[in-house]
Amino acid sequence: CKVALLYGGTSGERSISIASGEGSKAALIEAGYQVTMIDTAEKAQIMRLFSEEFDVAFLCLHGKMGEDGTVQGLLEYAGIPYTGSGVLSSALSMDKAKAKVMYEAAGLPTPPSIYLERGKSYAIDEIVQKLGVPCVVKPATEGSALGVFIVEREADLKPRIEEAFAIDDHLVVEKYIKGVELTAAVLGNEDVEALPVIEIVPSHEFYDFESKYAPGGSQHICPARLSDGDTARVQQLAIDAHKVLGCRGVSRTDMIRDAEGDIWLLETNTIPGMTSTSLLPDAARAVGLDFPRLCSKLVELALE
Ligand code: DAL
Ligand code: MG
Repeated sequence: CKVALLYGGTSGERSISIASGEGSKAALIEAGYQVTMIDTAEKAQIMRLFSEEFDVAFLCLHGKMGEDGTVQGLLEYAGIPYTGSGVLSSALSMDKAKAKVMYEAAGLPTPPSIYLERGKSYAIDEIVQKLGVPCVVKPATEGSALGVFIVEREADLKPRIEEAFAIDDHLVVEKYIKGVELTAAVLGNEDVEALPVIEIVPSHEFYDFESKYAPGGSQHICPARLSDGDTARVQQLAIDAHKVLGCRGVSRTDMIRDAEGDIWLLETNTIPGMTSTSLLPDAARAVGLDFPRLCSKLVELALE
């Protein structure tokens, strides 16, 4: 089976996409696949998708121009099956504001928020009135918590919003939920299963870029320290999010459990990190699916 492994790319998460790509390459070779690496930052390499024969594309592209439906559209056009979600689902999931609309339509809990667009006016007092402080400023279509700020004081809100606009044209300002960060991955197409829930204990204020990727930057507790009932609830929410967004193959939904025990959906990742410190490989290992088998499973789901 000839695999085109798409990695790298041009998003703010390029370094993570390279690490995911290198890790997955080794795992796919170990699982017996023939792997061609294609860095989508290079046009000449992308053209190989049209000039060579591949059975499947394995996507290790996080963020814009990779996780957002663009590369999925290219692969549809090239007629190559690919791992993970399709064009619409990828685009909806990548945009935190659109994903929240979908969650809300399905009655899934997500923190109240306000959507901001570059060039359109916004009123700080209205944001504070609706969401209070602290609140969280997030670029709508970035990953790995790039440009995410927890804003403690009203006076800091405008500068932080302007800083985040340097990263993205669209922002979500969200009510800050204090609690335990949880994540649950889902595998499958029509028949889906949730993997064990992971509890994230970041060494920083929250699970920011450094906590995610620096060795020792965070601790993953798997299975999470939750009651059976809460575990089932988190897993069902991850499945519901996967379904309402129309995901295929794999997704990983990040959540927060607050002090009252309520669980809130933050976002769904359609190409979860596949680095040595990433969450999906950890959750898969907990059910006996080692990294090569996880990668094989993603290929099998792509070809289903
Ligand atoms: N966006 C990063 C890669 C993740 O969610 O794992
Ligand atoms: Mg993300």
